[in-house]
Amino acid sequence: MTEIISVSKDSLARAAGVLRAGGLVGMPTETVYGLAANAQDGAAVARIFEAKGRPSFNPLIVHVHSIDEALEIADMNSQEIDLAERFWPGPLTMILKRRKNSKLSDLVSAGLPTVAVRLPAQKSARALIRACGFPIAAPSANKSGSLSPTTPQMVVQSLGDAVDMILADGACSVGLESTVVDCSGDVPMVLRPGGITAEELGADYYEGNEIKSPGQLLKHYAPDTPVRLNAVDICEGEALLSFGSVKFMGIRGGGAAADLPDTQIKHLSEHADLYEAAANLFMMLKDLDRPEHKAIAVMAIPEVGVGVAINDRLRRAALSAKV
Ligand code: TXA
Ligand code: MG
Repeated sequence: MTEIISVSKDSLARAAGVLRAGGLVGMPTETVYGLAANAQDGAAVARIFEAKGRPSFNPLIVHVHSIDEALEIADMNSQEIDLAERFWPGPLTMILKRRKNSKLSDLVSAGLPTVAVRLPAQKSARALIRACGFPIAAPSANKSGSLSPTTPQMVVQSLGDAVDMILADGACSVGLESTVVDCSGDVPMVLRPGGITAEELGADYYEGNEIKSPGQLLKHYAPDTPVRLNAVDICEGEALLSFGSVKFMGIRGGGAAADLPDTQIKHLSEHADLYEAAANLFMMLKDLDRPEHKAIAVMAIPEVGVGVAINDRLRRAALSAKV
């Protein structure tokens, strides 16, 4: 059974060690308990999706301990900094433009040009992020489709051994997920209502607020190049997104895929490691999405564990690409 450990100097250092090593920690925040991973480590972020049993890669909230740390991952104009100074630390998540050269994993924001950023009020959460020295990705610490946990016991009940350690700091004071405000348009728009209201933010409220999951509002990353799934060989002019060995993969009309130039072949994971593949997915799709490629041929990914989420994204990419 996963250990529940009360917040102390020692347990904070231990939790930071778990996160540094690519593990998952149940993290207390004032809203709900989060399932934390290093936001710069794609394989660790992939473990979040697997632990939650999420069938697709929804973008996650990145937690920081200061506005300065937020500025390392997102571009903020003066209005956005004003909003942050008024409501942070607190239960407000801002959708901001992702900084071009940030060290964030692509998987954290599901390949989108934006990133959700939050500076939590919970002191222990901020202490943990500071001790780590990197930002922390954390959705609510529950299985997909079940209630967000507001006590450490609820985290154990929902996730069991899928989480390496739970940092306990009592029941959450807010108990409701943070307000999500999209700042990328002309007027700030509340995508998910929470403790901080649209009125307080001077924001509009998204009209379709009957939609339960703000995730449904998102445009997902879609390549311009057609995507062909479950490829067993490739055609002339196609690029290859490989999984596992390409030793026996041929090019129709002659030639071996292994001899393709680096710009035309990307390896999701040579050792068929699904976590590594998930971490590389969006970046490599983007790399291969070039007008000189007729299509992106993708080798089959097993429909198990985090592979289910990878295939969900690949199928969407195959459907939405402009053919
Ligand atoms: O209170 C909270 O926000 C908790 C604690 C742990 O901080 N976290 C949380 O995370 O509720 P999660 O992953 O369950 O919800 C994140 C929400 C989702 O609805 C997601 O669609 C939205 O934020 N989101 C994340 N990144 C986004 C983006 N780039 N654009 C639009 N929406 C985004
Ligand atoms: Mg949630």
